[in-house]
Amino acid sequence: MIRLRIAAAAAALAAAAAIFSYADDLPFTDVSDSDWFYDDVARAYESGLISGVSETLFAPDQPLTYAEAAKLAAAMHFSERYGGQISVFQDGGKWYEPYVQYCSENGIISGADGYDWEAPATRAGYMSIFANALPDELMPPINDIPDGSIPDVDSFSAEAGGIYKLYRAGIVQGTGADHRCEPDSGIRRCEVAAILTRMIDSSSRIGFTMDIEKQKLIPDEPEPAQPETLQQQGEHKIEVIGGVTYIDGILIVNKTYSLPFDYGPGGLTKECSDAFASLQRGAAAQGLNIYAVSGYRSYEYQKGLYARYAARDGYAAADRYSARAGHSEHQTGLAIDCNSVYQSFADTAEGKWLAAHCHEYGFILRYPKGKESVTGYMYEPWHIRYLGEDNAKKVAESGLTLEEYFGVTSEYAD
Ligand code: DAL
Ligand code: ZN
Repeated sequence: MIRLRIAAAAAALAAAAAIFSYADDLPFTDVSDSDWFYDDVARAYESGLISGVSETLFAPDQPLTYAEAAKLAAAMHFSERYGGQISVFQDGGKWYEPYVQYCSENGIISGADGYDWEAPATRAGYMSIFANALPDELMPPINDIPDGSIPDVDSFSAEAGGIYKLYRAGIVQGTGADHRCEPDSGIRRCEVAAILTRMIDSSSRIGFTMDIEKQKLIPDEPEPAQPETLQQQGEHKIEVIGGVTYIDGILIVNKTYSLPFDYGPGGLTKECSDAFASLQRGAAAQGLNIYAVSGYRSYEYQKGLYARYAARDGYAAADRYSARAGHSEHQTGLAIDCNSVYQSFADTAEGKWLAAHCHEYGFILRYPKGKESVTGYMYEPWHIRYLGEDNAKKVAESGLTLEEYFGVTSEYAD
């Protein structure tokens, strides 16, 4: 018993010594042991993967450049494959060229010419480089991150594969409750140290779940009393309040009716999220799994998404399935794409159940089959819109699209 205690104490001391051994070694005057990143910098520095910007400065707040990202990726790759630290021979040229060459030759980057090496790396950029720095078996998935669940990452972008790989491996977890990636933002050197630590030490990886319904929930806003314009459309009352159009109190957005660029609840509204949770329970009771792959999308995010689709398929084609910025229902926090954004979803048990039952939970299938000329969009068996139970039942029972129900159009002005 006593010997066991002594052994445990010795082990604890050894562990403590291992941790504190960093402290004496760090030569940087701008990293103090009270900084949150101290251990990460110490660990990454001690492993030889990252160095200071000078002998005494680490520059924790300095943005990481693509050149530095390539150097780090090369160092990790080399150390894993050959052991020890990479050393490069350089005969003129830029300091980073040998690392870039190493990365190219080892499949860490493709298309070295496409990078502005001395520019700050974006998050999407460094992630897609780091994702190839270690073999897949050293970055096994530990988190369930469904395709399409990172709210600000376009699944069709070149970087998406690398970003999802790092999320799934627990090496990055994004920002905020919805685990946003912020793909176009930069990254500071202190944050990089934390990521390097997670790459080289699998025990420090982060387990988390990507629950799109738990995105920041904002209570539904009370409507201001005074509409800017008021118009009667047959038996329906159309009001514009704060640049947002409501018909009989229901928010409407389509190709005709837009939203202001700064409109956005920042996540699914609480009512929509609660109703979706209830819908999921109803489906689960039938042995079906319905999950969200896209919920709230900001104006800016939709702008980028539409631009990428238009670049890929041309504007006319993109207009048939993707809304221009300010025209997407996803900006309202009241729309959800479920399970799969392929039309084959309609033939799955989940797709059939969703079509038959979503109105019982307050949702309608917003873009039904054969109604493109009315809604402005091709059939989307996965896209549901929250209207509240009473309204959803009325619209569903009418057999009409929302446009037909209110007698309005969905057409861009231009
Ligand atoms: N796919 C729908 C129309 C949107 O982009 O909002
Ligand atoms: Zn959608």
